[in-house]
Amino acid sequence: MTGSSVAKQLVDAIIANLPEPAPGLRPVHTMGVGVDGYFMASDVARNYCIAEHFRGHRVEVSVRFSNGFGGPKQHDGWSDVRGMATRFHLQGGVKDGPATDLIATTLGEFFARNVEDFFEFTKIARQHPVQRESPWRKILDMLQLKEPVRDPYPKETTNTDAGALSYANRYRFAQLAVFEAAQIGAPVSYTRATYHAIHTFMVEDPHGVRRPVRFSWQPVAGVRTTDPTATPVDKYLRHELEERLRRWPARFMLMMTIGEAGDALDDPTKPWSARRVRVVMGTLTLTNLAKDQVADGERISFNPWRLVPGIEPSGDPILHARRCAYEVSREMRGGCPFIRSQADAK
Ligand code: HEM
Repeated sequence: MTGSSVAKQLVDAIIANLPEPAPGLRPVHTMGVGVDGYFMASDVARNYCIAEHFRGHRVEVSVRFSNGFGGPKQHDGWSDVRGMATRFHLQGGVKDGPATDLIATTLGEFFARNVEDFFEFTKIARQHPVQRESPWRKILDMLQLKEPVRDPYPKETTNTDAGALSYANRYRFAQLAVFEAAQIGAPVSYTRATYHAIHTFMVEDPHGVRRPVRFSWQPVAGVRTTDPTATPVDKYLRHELEERLRRWPARFMLMMTIGEAGDALDDPTKPWSARRVRVVMGTLTLTNLAKDQVADGERISFNPWRLVPGIEPSGDPILHARRCAYEVSREMRGGCPFIRSQADAK
């Protein structure tokens, strides 16, 4: 099978499992909002990585925050993974010019090691009708030390929770991500969550030394989720962000964790020790919602392979599969084409 046929199958498998079709939109992370801002590298960043956005000058960015949910309905208050895709506009900040992307979610790890695992997951974690458990059933679950099933949200008729849990019970490598996702909750604001780029990348320093690293965004305002017992509100994240940025910019720190001997470099299901060295690579300042939400929210298409000299992909099979899968998806929804690097853009 060629890379592009696997990619098409990956996207088709996602689409086949949507609660309702979303033609012309992303099949996952469907509902989102585009934001403008800028990134300033820290003083030490250039000592670790020669990439252009770590040299220290102001770099304009476009960010798209999103709910992980696939489908055209807004479910801001539902417990769900959230996305933060960032484009660093290089060489003067022209929006259609050379750029590099960093795509991250609120999950620290992934639930699949490779495409085979991913296909298996999409088979097992299908949409199932949700049922409200009786109070007696919940008590019985607790007595048997089983986690009681949460009540369905208003208007929630199907979900993939039961399938995902049975996948995690079958495959140990998936447990961290699936159990983390099951209790992730909803952020009070897109700017009050930590986002992880999950995969390992190789960065090169000015002396040619290459290091394995993982990136994450840490909110300066701290992490805060909504009350899990409150009835979820369907729409608030965009309005909250607009109001917040009208008053004051929001900031994130870009953290880079450096891997050590024995750390998993090609397996996104495996965490690294919390004792690893972390370097603050810079600060992202978000200033306003993008004026053109079609160009900077809907049509913009991110790709984890939009990289620049100084940052290379690891051998992670999921990272490799994403390259063409995102391209197939953006073609299907009519998004902007993928330009791989500065060299390709010339
Ligand atoms: C084999 C594994 C994966 C597949 C098949 C997959 C597939 C997709 C597809 C098809 C899209 C829509 C792309 C578009 O139309 O522009 C998407 C978006 C997204 N994915 Fe993945 N994905 C995978 C793994 C991951 C991982 C590991 C992460 C975590 C970093 C992630 C985070 C995101 C985010 C944040 C978006 C929304 C980006 C945006 O706002 O445009 N995905 N994914």
